[in-house]
Amino acid sequence: MTRILLKDQISRLKDQFGSDIAVVSNLDSLDELFRKYIGRNGLLRDLTSTIKDLSAEEKRTCGTELNQLKDFLTSKLEEAKMTLKRKLEGGEKIDYTYPFSAQTGREHPLYSTFEEIITIMERLGFEIVEGPEIEKEEYNFDFLNIPKEHPSHDIWNTFYVSEGKVLRSHTSPVQVRTMLSKKPPIKIVAPGKVYRPDTVDAGHLPVFHQLEGLYVDENVTLPHLKGTLEVLAMQLFGEVETKFRASFFPFTEPSLEMDVSCVICKKKGCPTCRYSGWIEILGAGMVNQKVFKNVGYPENKYSGFAFGLGIERITMIKYQIQDIRYLIENNFRFLKHFI
Ligand code: PHE
Repeated sequence: MTRILLKDQISRLKDQFGSDIAVVSNLDSLDELFRKYIGRNGLLRDLTSTIKDLSAEEKRTCGTELNQLKDFLTSKLEEAKMTLKRKLEGGEKIDYTYPFSAQTGREHPLYSTFEEIITIMERLGFEIVEGPEIEKEEYNFDFLNIPKEHPSHDIWNTFYVSEGKVLRSHTSPVQVRTMLSKKPPIKIVAPGKVYRPDTVDAGHLPVFHQLEGLYVDENVTLPHLKGTLEVLAMQLFGEVETKFRASFFPFTEPSLEMDVSCVICKKKGCPTCRYSGWIEILGAGMVNQKVFKNVGYPENKYSGFAFGLGIERITMIKYQIQDIRYLIENNFRFLKHFI
């Protein structure tokens, strides 16, 4: 056996294989072909045994050719087996009756609440502005009259990004940016994300959303603030009562918090309102004259009000969601309940 002769034999074997496999119509006869060509006593084995007397060099080249032949036969046989099986199973099965429904996306309840509040505020003449989430430390604190020793400066309450930069811990720095860039009248709302290093539980997330409001002009008074917030509460929750309580923020004087009567129990007392009948929804107040001074406004010329509300909180009250974590899980079954 020489190499030339072997090549000739290989090509003849391939021809024979070609005509054999062409007529195979069932798995049994295909099995026979497996045995006939690559089985233990098959034709490939016969050919392989003929090269044992060749020189080492020739053995190597012929060996390679025989290996290629084996690969060729094996892949053809496997392919034929797959085709045959598919044919016997009646081809690829598609169940055209299988129920199919395309699920359309929908707006997240948090953003519907945002939209709703913004629409109400726009109708009241407020313009939307935005500020950066990575904020100058001095806009987040100093300009807002938050002294260095105030606990919110502490690293536990604010994320520090780099020297002089923080992840804003509230949307109030947008007040500062707006007042630094223009003179009153100013009537803006600033929606956006805020960050605090809180541990996640049913009521806290380290990232949440706020909406800041600011109205500055000559002769803006506390009744303007109360009127505006009452309209907002009514339009958001329907017929609710509102109540203002004295509070404290360094950037407003006087400061207050607004409660709405519990939308769930209608003041009868339930776990959501902690049996008090009232739910706190926002912080507000008349802009502290010190803030006007910090942004370079003339003394005692302007007055204004500001408020800040938490969107998650409002969404939870509105849709009676017990746990804030539902709002970030993106569980479609949960989200489907809204809209
Ligand atoms: N920035 C305050 C907070 O995050 C809310 C607030 C805004 C209070 C504007 C008064 C005026 O708690």
